[in-house]
Amino acid sequence: MKFFVDTAEIDAIRELHALGMVDGVTTNPSLIAKSGRDIKEVTKEICDLVDGPVSAETVALDAEGMIKEGHELKKIADNIAIKVPLTWEGLKACKTLTDEGHMVNVTLCFSANQALLAAKAGATFISPFIGRLDDLNIDGMELIADIREIYDNYGFTTQILAASIRSANHMSEAAKIGADVATAPPAVIHAMANHVLTDKGLDAFLKDWEKTGQKIV
Ligand code: E4P
Repeated sequence: MKFFVDTAEIDAIRELHALGMVDGVTTNPSLIAKSGRDIKEVTKEICDLVDGPVSAETVALDAEGMIKEGHELKKIADNIAIKVPLTWEGLKACKTLTDEGHMVNVTLCFSANQALLAAKAGATFISPFIGRLDDLNIDGMELIADIREIYDNYGFTTQILAASIRSANHMSEAAKIGADVATAPPAVIHAMANHVLTDKGLDAFLKDWEKTGQKIV
C-alpha cells in the first residue's frame, strides 16, 4: 500500500520523506487554510520535494470552473493530481481532465455507487472518507471493502485512496482490505510505530543492561 501524507505542512512532509514514507501528498482547502500559506506557493514546495502525486483541490462548483482551475493548478508541477469533488459536475470535470491526460483524484466519496461512477469517468484515484463515516456510526472500512470488490470484479484501474484516516488501526485495516493508497496525517503515520509492549520491553532491557555495567561505545 502506498502512503500519501494528508497535510500542507512542509516540515512534516520533509521529515517523513527523508524516511522513505512518502509516496505522495494530499491537500484540500481546509489543510491549505490551516497552513496559512498561499496555495500555489506551498504546493510548488511540496511538488519540488515529492516525486509522487500531489493532490491539489479545485473549489469551483461547475465542471467548467473545475477544469479551468485544474489547468491552473497543473501549471504548478507535472506531478499534480487535480482533485475534484464527487458531484455530477465533478464527474464531468474528471472525464475531461483524464481524457486530457491529467491525474484526477475524485474526493468526498461516501458510497460504493459514487466510487463506481468515478471509475467509469476515468478517475486516477477515488478518495473514500473513512473517518467521516465512522463519525456517523457507519463503518467506513466496509466502504473500502465494497469498492475493492466492485473494482476487482470489473478490472477498474482507478486506485482506491483511503482518506479521512484517523488512527493507526485505519492504516492496517485499509492495507488488509487492499486499498492501493492510504493518506494519513503525519501524526497517524508516527503513531503506527507505537506499541505499549515495545516500550515495556525496551524499559526492561535497559534496566538489565544497566546491571551489567557494560558500554557498547
Ligand atoms: C483526503 O484527501 C482529505 O484531505 C482528508 O483525508 C480528509 O480528512 P478529514 O476527514 O480528517 O478532514
